[in-house]
Amino acid sequence: MYKSFIRPILFKFDPEEVHYFTFSLLKNFPFLAKIFLPKPIEDKRLEREVFGLKFKNPVGLAAGFDKDAKMFSELSDLGFGFVEIGTLTPKPQDGNPKKRLFRLKEDSAIINRMGFNNGGVDAAVERLKANRNVLIGGNIGKNKITANEDAVNDYIICFEKLFPVVDYFVVNVSSPNTPNLRELQDKEPLTKLLGNLQHLNSQKEKPKPILLKIAPDLSDDQLLDIIDIVKETKIAGVIATNTTLSRDNLISENRQEAGGLSGKPLAKRSTEVIRFLSEKSGKAFPIIGVGGIHTAEDAIEKLEAGASLIQLYTGFIYEGPELIHDINKKLLEKY
Ligand SMILES: Cc1cc2nc3c(=O)[nH]c(=O)nc-3n(C[C@H](O)[C@H](O)[C@H](O)COP(=O)(O)O)c2cc1C
Repeated sequence: MYKSFIRPILFKFDPEEVHYFTFSLLKNFPFLAKIFLPKPIEDKRLEREVFGLKFKNPVGLAAGFDKDAKMFSELSDLGFGFVEIGTLTPKPQDGNPKKRLFRLKEDSAIINRMGFNNGGVDAAVERLKANRNVLIGGNIGKNKITANEDAVNDYIICFEKLFPVVDYFVVNVSSPNTPNLRELQDKEPLTKLLGNLQHLNSQKEKPKPILLKIAPDLSDDQLLDIIDIVKETKIAGVIATNTTLSRDNLISENRQEAGGLSGKPLAKRSTEVIRFLSEKSGKAFPIIGVGGIHTAEDAIEKLEAGASLIQLYTGFIYEGPELIHDINKKLLEKY
């Protein structure tokens, strides 16, 4: 239904406009999803317990789609087992000038350089106070105008404000679209950042899982550092991966646009990163696998490489909400 009828229409328009259009469609006419889409699968066998939380199924929505926590209920109704909101920053910011989102149709991919456009953490907190029917991850970052030396404060502000209203946290230091952000992945600043957050977390009556989201462009040595840092700071796990700066083997016209590449061309590398982290750490911590999942088989590949849960973004745009259904159905058949 989505691929044959809806996508061809949506893909005729500017990707960012389509994003807001489908948002308002889902928000204002939620019954459309019920009419046109398969009923989400609910089955005890799909439930997963990971870092102390119970997920109704292992298929989540990756960060960046519902940055401002405006749609988590409607997205949960499509069948997602969890929804990650953000990346949120302490102050609202516009992000980069448009045009900043590009389809690479022939490659089943997207390049984005959104630059953490979001309405700020306070507005999201208000929305998250509403009743909700799904586990929510709070993905946090720093404002563009905040220097890297002061970044810890931005993450702490977001952490403290979101603490009462999210179920787990994701520290995003891997977006390629905020200048120098990825330098925070280096051993010293990262240990300091995660150590600070984990210290605050440990003082809470009931600490919440903190995860680190990493880039697919890290070397093996850097990945080994990540394993050490996760163990040392005792954070709950890793999300692998964010978008890539690589442009290998692309054929679409938009391939030279600046920004992070997501979708099919990212699948192999992100699975490699998951496998590397899982094997080299001796499965010491859970991994959420994300990057280029466009079919149920892609999802299973990530799970078999060591992921405990998976997330979708670009595959959701290209394949539609049926992809969530397909993955859960395949998981029930297979296991
Ligand atoms: C338009 C767009 C915006 C994104 N924004 C964010 C973001 O704000 N924070 C974040 O951690 N990841 C963000 N991502 C990265 C995704 O969460 C995901 O890690 C990446 O796209 C790889 O998954 P995919 O191939 O399924 O899209 C964004 C991705 C896209 C395509």
